[in-house]
Amino acid sequence: MAAYEYETHDYDVVVVGAGGSGLRATLGMAEQGLRTACVTKVFPTRSHTVAAQGGIAASLSNMGPDNWQWHMYDTVKGSDWLGDTDAMEYLARHAPAAVYELEHYGVPFSRTEEGKIYQRPFGGHTTEFGEGPPVQRTCAAADRTGHAILHTLYGQSLKNDAEFFIEYFAIDLLMSDDGVCQGVLCWKLDDGTMHVFNAKTVVLATGGYGRAYFSATSAHTCTGDGGGMVARAGLPLQDMEFVQFHPTGIYGSGCLITEGARGEGGYLTNSEGERFMERYAPTYKDLAPRDYVSRSMTMEIREGRGVGEHGDHIHLNLSHLPKEALAERLPGISESAKIFAGVDVTKEPIPVLPTVHYNMGGIPTNYWGEVLNPTEGNPNAVVPGLMAVGEAGCASVHGANRLGSNSLIDLVVFGRAAAIRAGKTINPEESTPRPSAASIDKAFDRFDSVRHADGGTPTAELRLEMQRTMQEDAAVFRASKTLAEGKEKMTAIAGKLSDLKVTDRSLIWNSDLMESLELTNLMPNALATIVGAEARKESRGAHAHEDFSERDDENWRVHSIARVEDTKVDLTYRPVIVDPLTVEQEGGIELKRIAPKERTF
Ligand code: FUM
Repeated sequence: MAAYEYETHDYDVVVVGAGGSGLRATLGMAEQGLRTACVTKVFPTRSHTVAAQGGIAASLSNMGPDNWQWHMYDTVKGSDWLGDTDAMEYLARHAPAAVYELEHYGVPFSRTEEGKIYQRPFGGHTTEFGEGPPVQRTCAAADRTGHAILHTLYGQSLKNDAEFFIEYFAIDLLMSDDGVCQGVLCWKLDDGTMHVFNAKTVVLATGGYGRAYFSATSAHTCTGDGGGMVARAGLPLQDMEFVQFHPTGIYGSGCLITEGARGEGGYLTNSEGERFMERYAPTYKDLAPRDYVSRSMTMEIREGRGVGEHGDHIHLNLSHLPKEALAERLPGISESAKIFAGVDVTKEPIPVLPTVHYNMGGIPTNYWGEVLNPTEGNPNAVVPGLMAVGEAGCASVHGANRLGSNSLIDLVVFGRAAAIRAGKTINPEESTPRPSAASIDKAFDRFDSVRHADGGTPTAELRLEMQRTMQEDAAVFRASKTLAEGKEKMTAIAGKLSDLKVTDRSLIWNSDLMESLELTNLMPNALATIVGAEARKESRGAHAHEDFSERDDENWRVHSIARVEDTKVDLTYRPVIVDPLTVEQEGGIELKRIAPKERTF
């Protein structure tokens, strides 16, 4: 047994992660007087939400007619009918209030002439239940919306006396024998001390696992830490096969060029200068959803109409837009294009390529953010003491494909929902649970075994192997052969974790150890992704299977539930929730099931 000294902390709530969802949850908890700690491996305003550009979806109707029912419909259709309808209703219904709340907290949104929040078009957001023209639903702070939200929420959280533990890395959940989450073990990166946080509720807000892939818009910190901890606690991951490729990552660096660029009038062209999206999506063209656009770009490249020396990418054109509009609405991407592609957007097109951007799958939750551990008799069984929000969680509002700007709204709506729920379920008068010595020892033992790993495979080498395999075999288009090969390769790669070589054994600012621990988190996420993809014999949303090119609602309108143990993934399935939350007559619209239909744009 590894012997480490540690400090103990008692809180009502411990939020792990300080991105948009973590901060919104932290703020909501603290506002209600719950003793709230937020532990985060990076400084809060450096969390990956800071990179979110284009905006946050809410049917404010500032730029034309809109309502939450249209937003809900677009989200259901965007998800390719894999999202849970109750959660999608909750998201669309509460989105306007959540955005006005942000405005009142101080988010500096861009403004219309009349001083209202400025909204731009984004892919897949429409009017008239998908029958009308595109809608301007995405509320923006220029192209730095995530940055604006993050700074505001951090300031508000401090104002409400939330306590921050910055540059603390969460190692493992502390679970009781009967499956209750009672806390989390953390390592303080700058002085090497260890910390046990006892909590009535732990909220995982650890973000996605984009770095399981070679080329991603995600920060290097997006290593699926929540998913890793959950898998090690014997809990499942959901719908992991659905990985979103953003159409416009800068060719080479993968740096994001916001969809807002197309929302403001930008368009894609191939080597013949053709606006090819008109062929694939005659109605919404460049504003079709991301899975659609990414596939269309890939087809153009495959058919020999890619641009550049190797014909392996596509052009995004903005030079026809007024210089003032570029400066006012898209200053950030104008700068990124200059730095990362050497392009002056007022004169030349940006070279772009579909790039891994978002994980629709994650830790299964209900729409309150409570983590689920589905059993045969109860697909919606809740894990006491554990919540997950944001990209780490899977509520599931994005199903098989997320609409652009539905991520930021997911963060704040469900961060807020988790706080509302915690306010009802946590009794501040009760004493904090004491995790057992056995659960603490187990977490320390794992930490110690990674710290002293003395095999033959350096972390960076194994990580690269994983990233290249995922990039090649779980890509925009997938096929039985490559998925089967990818599954075999990833199983072998995951097996090599037992041969890991960590060279630095110190505890202070040890990036070798930190990256090794992150790799142990990335691995179960990656493995669940490729195994889930290999098993799913249909095409749906971001899962485009060349040997099963149709959606199969009869057999596959189900969530995949993956339990990962070392190199093994046990897959089961959970029914999609098809009923809305409320059935009522509102504005002449009756809320009822939205029946699946062909998804065209
Ligand atoms: O394109 C973007 O600005 C990204 C937004 C999103 O992923 O929601």
